[in-house]
Amino acid sequence: MNRLALSLLIASAFATPAAFAQTTGKVKVGLMLPATGTFAALGTAVENGFRLYIQEQGGKLAGREIEFVKVDDESDPAKATDNVNKLIKRDNVDVLVGTVHSGVAMAMARVAKATGTLLIVPNAGADAVTGAMCAPNIFRSSFSNWQPGYAMGEAMAQKGHKKVVTITWKYAAGDESVNGFKEAFEKKGGKVVKELTLPFPNVEFQALLTEIASTKPDAVYTFFAGGGAVKFVKDYAAAGLNKSIPLYGAGFLTDGTLEAQGADAEGLMTTLHYADGLNTPRDQSFRLAYAKAFKLQPDVYAVQGYDAAQILAAGMNAVKGDLGKKTEFTEAVRKAKIDSPRGVFTMSKSHNPVQDIYLRQVGSKENKVISVASKALVDPGRGCRM
Ligand code: PHB
Repeated sequence: MNRLALSLLIASAFATPAAFAQTTGKVKVGLMLPATGTFAALGTAVENGFRLYIQEQGGKLAGREIEFVKVDDESDPAKATDNVNKLIKRDNVDVLVGTVHSGVAMAMARVAKATGTLLIVPNAGADAVTGAMCAPNIFRSSFSNWQPGYAMGEAMAQKGHKKVVTITWKYAAGDESVNGFKEAFEKKGGKVVKELTLPFPNVEFQALLTEIASTKPDAVYTFFAGGGAVKFVKDYAAAGLNKSIPLYGAGFLTDGTLEAQGADAEGLMTTLHYADGLNTPRDQSFRLAYAKAFKLQPDVYAVQGYDAAQILAAGMNAVKGDLGKKTEFTEAVRKAKIDSPRGVFTMSKSHNPVQDIYLRQVGSKENKVISVASKALVDPGRGCRM
């Protein structure tokens, strides 16, 4: 055998196991979520939901065992690019799952797009992730920031409110939630008279609450989540504003937070793609399984984590575990009907859930469904070309 033939033989001997490894062996999932800070509990719920679905499949998808590598992203956009690069380059993950914070998620999407790494976003609503940054390898199991805001704009106009003040954190999620709200509310004849903001994740609301009191709007629309949402609802009530100016929000305001908010949250109306009391067999079995596994009630974040795993399963089953078959994976997820506890959803052209947005009201520490505020709402996916 000459040298060339020998080196070819050696090369092919090495190439074979590598190619083979695409359909067998473990799949490494990089979970990039907040474990500290105002969104810590949200990260836990996402992870629990994701793990629950994998457990239900016996720990495997398409015959391949699922292994996890975890990073606490601290909801800090400044550390995001380093964190995601570590997962891809040092840990060699096959799939990225994350995150909660929109600014961090945009950094993840940038790297995912540049490297072709599969990314499933289980919360962060950054419009750009399924808009200008859209890509065949990027999917979202949650919502766009525009979606609950838009649905609430219609709902509040329908209630006859005319003059509204908005208040939120000054970052992508807050800005885009307010923009979605304003788009629908002003289309229906309402007016946003003041847009109040404070930096993320600050919770010194006092001066802004004083400004709301002196502006005397018909109502307030807000986006806050996690620990910040708990404090905002409590401060709004402590200032006595809940007696005079009705407060509405994207449903994160009262999801996973009701234990801590107690009586101060009673009666609040919000819009979201999940609710308590849906009473479908699918939701009931999910809630029972989640409560049994984690001794906790699930919330919207748990549902989104569970559905991120369902999206991964839909793609992996179609390619029989071969994650190298990227086009087929994408095609399968595009066609999938995800049997979510929230109700079945499909993917929009830019890979964001097409889903019902519920109007909910807090009663007895539950976000009880009142109606469907917006049926099969499609995010416009502005700026997406693929
Ligand atoms: C976001 O930053 O996109 C975000 C964070 C927390 C939520 C919802 C959206 O509950």
